[in-house]
Amino acid sequence: MSETTGLSTFAKDVHAGLTSTPKCLSSKYFYDETGDQLFQTIMGLDEYYLTRSEFEIFENQKEEILKSFLGNDASFNLVELGAGDGTKTKVLINYFAKNKVDFSYSPIDISQHVLDLLLEDLQKLNPKLKVNAIQGDYFDALAKLNENHFQKEVVLFLGSNIGNFSNGSAPKFLKRLGDNLSPGDLLLIGFDLMKDPNVILNAYNDASGITKAFNLNLLDRINSELGANFDIDSFDHFPTYNPVTGETRSYLISTKKQEVFIEATGESYAFDIWEPIHMEVSQKYSMNTIHQFAAQAGFKVVKDFTDENNFFVDSLWEKI
Ligand code: AVJ
Repeated sequence: MSETTGLSTFAKDVHAGLTSTPKCLSSKYFYDETGDQLFQTIMGLDEYYLTRSEFEIFENQKEEILKSFLGNDASFNLVELGAGDGTKTKVLINYFAKNKVDFSYSPIDISQHVLDLLLEDLQKLNPKLKVNAIQGDYFDALAKLNENHFQKEVVLFLGSNIGNFSNGSAPKFLKRLGDNLSPGDLLLIGFDLMKDPNVILNAYNDASGITKAFNLNLLDRINSELGANFDIDSFDHFPTYNPVTGETRSYLISTKKQEVFIEATGESYAFDIWEPIHMEVSQKYSMNTIHQFAAQAGFKVVKDFTDENNFFVDSLWEKI
C-alpha cells in the first residue's frame, strides 16, 4: 500500500494486521450490528458461563454492592464503560432505584445505536432515572464527565472486557483509567478467573458454532466495508487456552493456500495453507494478578465479589 492517507482507521488496521507475522485482526472490530447480535447470543449460550456468573454476583450481592458504592457518601454517579445492552447493570440500577438511592447513570459506549436502545429501555423501566449517555471513546468520555464532576464516580467495567487487553497492555490501560479519576472514586471491574481449562475452552468453542460465526463475521465485515473477497468457508475457527499464562486466543485458520484482495487498500494478501489469523485474546486471571494490577494502577482493593463457582470476580477498587 503506497498511499495510506485517506484510508479509514479500519482499513489501515486491517492492512497492518494482515501484513504482520503472525497475521492478526483486532477484536474491537467484531461489533458491527451483526457482531452485536452474535455477542448477545453468545451471552446466552450454555457454554458461555461469564455473563451468567456476573449476573449471579449482582443478583445475590446487590445489597452489599450498594453499601460499598455508597460508603460514607449520600450519592454517586454510576459510569459504565462499554455499556452494551445493560442487562446486568439493570439488576443494580433497579435495586438502587427501588431503595431510593440518589444516583445518576452515565453509560459510555462507542456505538450510538447501542446507547439509543439502552436509553429507550431505561426510560420505559425507570422514567425518573437521571441518565447522561455519552457516545465515544472511554477516555474522551471520562474527561468530559470530569469537566463538571462534583460527585463520587463509581465506574463499572464489566464482563471481563479487560480480557481483550494482553497482560502487557492491561496495566497501562488501568493506570490511564485511574488517572481520569479522583481519590475516593470507585471502579468495579469484572475479571474472568482461571479455572478448569476445559470449561474455558468450551466457552470459546460452543457446540452451536456461534463463536465461530462471531469471528468469521469480521471477515464478512471486511468484505462488505472494505471491498474484500474473503472466502468465508475456507477459514476455520480454532481457540486455544494456555493454563500457565491464562491466555485464551481465538484464531481463524486458512484451510487452503489462497489470496485475498482488499479494494480499500488496493492490495492482495497471501495465505499459506493452515496459516492462522490471530483474532482475539480473552485473558483469564489469578486473584494475585488482579490485586497486583490494582496496586500498579494506584488503587486499593475494597472487596472482591465472586460467584458460587468462583468462576468470575467483580473486584471493587478505590482510587488512592
Ligand atoms: C466481550 C471480550 C468479554 O472475551 O469473553 C465472547 C468476547 N469473544 N466470545 C470474551 C467474546 C468470544 C468477550 N468479551
